[in-house]
Amino acid sequence: MVISGKELAKEVKENIARKVASYRIEYGREPNLCVILVGEDPASAGYVRSKGKQAGEVGFSHTEIHLPATITEHELIDKVKELNADEGVDGILVQLPLPKHIRKHRVIESIDPAKDVDGFHSKNVDALWHRLPGIRACTPKGIIKLLDKAGVEIAGKHAVVIGRSNIVGFPVAKLLLDRNATVTIAHSHTEDLASITRTADILVVAIGVPKLITGDMVKEGVAVIDVGITHDPETGKLSGDVDFDTVEPKASVITPVPGGVGPMTIACLLENTLDCYTRKMQW
Ligand code: GUN
Repeated sequence: MVISGKELAKEVKENIARKVASYRIEYGREPNLCVILVGEDPASAGYVRSKGKQAGEVGFSHTEIHLPATITEHELIDKVKELNADEGVDGILVQLPLPKHIRKHRVIESIDPAKDVDGFHSKNVDALWHRLPGIRACTPKGIIKLLDKAGVEIAGKHAVVIGRSNIVGFPVAKLLLDRNATVTIAHSHTEDLASITRTADILVVAIGVPKLITGDMVKEGVAVIDVGITHDPETGKLSGDVDFDTVEPKASVITPVPGGVGPMTIACLLENTLDCYTRKMQW
């Protein structure tokens, strides 16, 4: 079964849109998401446009702030602080990657944790590790929703996560552990990756190596979540970290690229924005 992230994201967004319609009457305004783009990277610009467009579709107001790649770290942080203080802004997202002269962690740490819709601030990461209420990173949250939607049992299963980034690998491993999976985290230094992936009941691949996982590396019935998305400049096609053609026949469920995890990341971003807004309004 191919799990459509597009379909599930549509359901999540319809649910958000319904809530926004009634909250707007109750609280007098809609949620607001503010997205900052530094520089002109075309892929980042595309993601930012998509986030803004989809925020509009669920009835949020949204602001896209484009800043030049030459902006200083100090100037960027000042902009974030301005948005932190703005009562009309519920969610702040600074699109990554940032130009090399800007320290990413300094910028992330300057975002008000209550407006950190990416869930990247150390206070939100701390909440994840301590199983306390906080904002969970969007892609990991989306992956759990996809597994639940597909009816995949998590408790007691062996989940193998390939990749250990702060955005996906680490947090998704923790969320799976909290759902009582036994979790192995593999990465670019792992020796004999295939001997580990073959033991996986659930395989999450987030390492950014096109078609790294082939059919001979998985066991029959595995649930496969492909987080990778790489543009092949020669064919112009998008490729995942999983070789879909050889893995799909063995998998019980698998996410496609594109149309799998990607749409869920944005749906969860919108969900996080709505949560930031309701927490503020219900305070
Ligand atoms: N760049 C790639 N993925 C993400 C994401 O989830 N959030 C932000 N802010 N930047 C990204």
